[in-house]
Amino acid sequence: MIVIDREKCIGCGQCVSDCPADRLKLEEGKAVYTPECIQCGHCVAVCPVRAVAIPEYDMDEVEEYDAEKFHLEPEHFLHALKFRRSIRRYKDQHVEQEKLERILQAGRYTETAKNRQGCRFIVVQEHLEEFKDLLWEEVPRMAESIKKTMPHYSMLFKFMYRKRRKDRADDGLFFNAPVCVVIGAENTLDAGLAAANMETMAVAEGLGVLFDGYLQSVVEACPKAKEWLGIPDLPAACCMLLGYPAVTYRRTAPRKKADIQWK
Ligand SMILES: Cc1cc2nc3c(=O)[nH]c(=O)nc-3n(C[C@H](O)[C@H](O)[C@H](O)COP(=O)(O)O)c2cc1C
Repeated sequence: MIVIDREKCIGCGQCVSDCPADRLKLEEGKAVYTPECIQCGHCVAVCPVRAVAIPEYDMDEVEEYDAEKFHLEPEHFLHALKFRRSIRRYKDQHVEQEKLERILQAGRYTETAKNRQGCRFIVVQEHLEEFKDLLWEEVPRMAESIKKTMPHYSMLFKFMYRKRRKDRADDGLFFNAPVCVVIGAENTLDAGLAAANMETMAVAEGLGVLFDGYLQSVVEACPKAKEWLGIPDLPAACCMLLGYPAVTYRRTAPRKKADIQWK
């Protein structure tokens, strides 16, 4: 539901022009809303006099545009993106709650298809050891179940399991990261976009991330783990490890030439 304050509305028509669902029109010089829409909030964001509200959301969270904060030097941004690395070596250091909360905000504010906002973020820090034990216990069964369909992965998971049994610290699924974030989502692109922004935010906080496809496959194949995480009903779309990097990269990693066609 969109609510327009008729007293405040100056009838500029900005919300009408910007509404992707065409649910707003001008009547007698005032914006009028006809349900239903996807509540994307463009009408709230574009209104010059703050006359529009979506009561279902927390309107106190809406921020005014701040040119100083918004300024991102393109060269600097690209440099930061090039220097982001997948981190597989972490310091034994707790990650502060405030940092995790800002990283989650980056995920929460990421765009989603149909503005569904359907990602569920599970942050495992306090009970990480319990989660690890639960998951590793499931690995032999999971490896056995894919023996025929994916023999290479089956062998790899068995190998990883044996290594970890010998030495708990040799953990090819969790890499001794202090935090694991799982994103449950029906739409995997939604989860991926959120995860990418969360990674950039983590880097800005001095942290490092690893998107862990192997971990994600094990979680997805393990109903017990999904139950434990509270996503029995949702695909585990993304598993990311997070922590302070115990490695310093001095230069960018080389890349293939981009496969681009200009037409
Ligand atoms: C979706 C996804 C899944 C990945 N899964 C794993 C994984 O299971 N184990 C691992 O060590 N690295 C994993 N990686 C990291 C990639 O190997 C890494 O991004 C790539 O080698 C490039 O290195 P960079 O991220 O440091 O630039 C994954 C990356 C992505 C994007």
